[in-house]
Amino acid sequence: MGTPLSASTGAPHAAILGVGAYRPVRVVPNADVVDAIDSSDEWIQQRSGIKTRRWAGPEESVQMMSVEASRIALERAGLDAGQIDCVVVATVSHLLQTPAVATAIAHELGTDAAAFDISAACSGFCHGISMASDFVRAGSAQHVLVIGVERLTDILDLTDRGTAFIFADGAGAAVVGPSDTPGIGPVVWGSDGEQFDLIRQREDWRDVVGSPERPGSGVMPHLVMQGNPVFRWASFAMAKIGQQAIDRAGITLDDLDVFVPHQANMRIIDAMARSMKLPSHVRIARDVADQGNTSAASVPLALERMIAEGDARSGDTALLIAFGAGLSYAAQVVTVP
Ligand code: UT7
Repeated sequence: MGTPLSASTGAPHAAILGVGAYRPVRVVPNADVVDAIDSSDEWIQQRSGIKTRRWAGPEESVQMMSVEASRIALERAGLDAGQIDCVVVATVSHLLQTPAVATAIAHELGTDAAAFDISAACSGFCHGISMASDFVRAGSAQHVLVIGVERLTDILDLTDRGTAFIFADGAGAAVVGPSDTPGIGPVVWGSDGEQFDLIRQREDWRDVVGSPERPGSGVMPHLVMQGNPVFRWASFAMAKIGQQAIDRAGITLDDLDVFVPHQANMRIIDAMARSMKLPSHVRIARDVADQGNTSAASVPLALERMIAEGDARSGDTALLIAFGAGLSYAAQVVTVP
């Protein structure tokens, strides 16, 4: 005699119900980073489109920024923290290997929901949205809080020409919950581990700590990137992934209102829009110009800004796409809350 394993039943569909953001107070212009990397404002703007970025101060921790962004997302979704069943935090810059920062964030918000971190670098938020949609539809959770947060300045080498001017700090959050109509399309995701080394933590912890026979470096393991191969990969391969997400959502490019790509580099954003042949009516997120590249936080920050500035309106159809270390990527079409 078998024991029944009762099937959980979820909502017919899932949707993003609210989006929130936290941007660090300190605005850092190119002039403040160029001396340490022998660069210029002109070079940085030409190659990346970045004019300023936000860098966190001592009080603006991963947890603090996440809680602030989440409170706004919850308020906009019309929910209390107690109604959240699961908290998923996408980050690569929480400096404790364990426990997950998600449990501390959940506790500060006032929920004892399931809480865990995911490590998918810049594409982590889009991975989280896909998981949240599946949880809601499978009945594993009714409401899921997905947070993308980074305090990359903790792991930046400010003398590294390849990273110091690009990366930045911030947090974005989205509440995913039940919906009568589809609000989150099928995910198109994957990885290219052959390019594992292109963006990575330079030393592993054993190299930092060392041993009596082999002394460690004793310095924070920094983030390093071979920018140009990543640039070429992102500019060409990611346009196809975006198109696949549109196809899988059962829509055409003409149905799209908003494009929210990972905010890595303005030239990549433009190259993707060109390769995808986005119609001129599609409004494109360009948050990177004054926010820098905030990895897992970049897509929710950019989406939140478009909503706040009226460039993305409730009911609009938006393509989200993110890519980065791994190399890993994820894309989906969503309805703007
Ligand atoms: O978020 C995760 C995913 N990350 C990305 O998508 C980032 C992708 N990569 C990029 O955004 C670009 O590769 C960068 C903005 C990082 C660099 O732009 P690039 O057009 O790929 O430049 P490059 O590395 O090919 O360098 C071009 C030139 C070189 O000089 P030569 O050899 O042409 O004389 C570099 O030495 O620019 C020089 N250079 C710099 N000059 C001033 C490299 N870094 C700098 C710098 N300032 N910071």
